[in-house]
Amino acid sequence: MTSTNPDLQSVVTDIANEMAQRSDRGEVASYIPELAGVDANQFGLVVIDADGNIAAGGDSEAPFSIQSISKVFTLTLALGMIGDRLWRRVGREPSGNPFNSIVQLERERGVPRNPFINAGAIAVTDVIVSGHQPRESLGEILRFMRFLAQDSSIVIDHAVAASEKRTGYRNTALANYMKSFGVLENPVDFTLGVYFHHCAIAMSCRQLAMAGRYLAHSGTNPSTGFSIVPAERARRINALMLTCGHYDGSGEFAYRVGLPGKSGVGGGILAIAPGKASIAVWAPGLDANGNSHLGRIALEALTRRLGWSIFGV
Ligand code: DON
Repeated sequence: MTSTNPDLQSVVTDIANEMAQRSDRGEVASYIPELAGVDANQFGLVVIDADGNIAAGGDSEAPFSIQSISKVFTLTLALGMIGDRLWRRVGREPSGNPFNSIVQLERERGVPRNPFINAGAIAVTDVIVSGHQPRESLGEILRFMRFLAQDSSIVIDHAVAASEKRTGYRNTALANYMKSFGVLENPVDFTLGVYFHHCAIAMSCRQLAMAGRYLAHSGTNPSTGFSIVPAERARRINALMLTCGHYDGSGEFAYRVGLPGKSGVGGGILAIAPGKASIAVWAPGLDANGNSHLGRIALEALTRRLGWSIFGV
């Protein structure tokens, strides 16, 4: 389906063209060797409105490593499995620290601040792993992504997962540290294996924007009518994305863009305009906080031009 909303499509095309001109592209992630070779000149943007119209610009069909954006979907799954008991294992406050920081964990007895920093996402993955073989849990996550995006071609990039596993010293430290406090139930290897692989799911902006639609529409995909989560849960996930989705850059993202958003070190951002649209942007170069540099700038331009900030025009 292409856009039948010419205004939205022209805004998206304009922004994609503007981003193509820019020379400030940030730095691609290098701590995961497989991501270090990604071409920083790429840019993609897709907006899907409430009627299902798709406005696409740039490299909107190119698959990229969704990385931490997967944490939104694993949080959704874990809440579906154990409900509010999840909040005994992970908090709901912004950390004000980098995504891979370990400093708060000792003071807070191994309970991570929120589900989007790495420690929190590893704890959430542990919930999904409980009672299953790692392979089954991973299959569950991948099937959920395919179902949400209505696209069975979505796969895991095993080279990215292996690359991160080989060099994942910090995540291994975080997981062992939480295990020592009893916050993880499963063998550290099992939980980390699933975590690395769900971060390595590859999706295009179009697939990601499709997958995020339930968050923009009170928990239901308005095109299929499928209810994914209750409206209250969608609202709360959006609240966490707003306050914690960009780590120690979350305040700046709210200030400039004004939407719930979740970034990944692959350069993607999923942003939600409640009641209006699900938005995915991808520009591989990152800022100092590990969030997409041009992705944030593009979203700022988009929300300003459409008046979509949740805080007003
Ligand atoms: O665990 C990691 O470090 C990566 N798999 C994900 C980190 C990430 O995407 C941070 N987001 N901007």
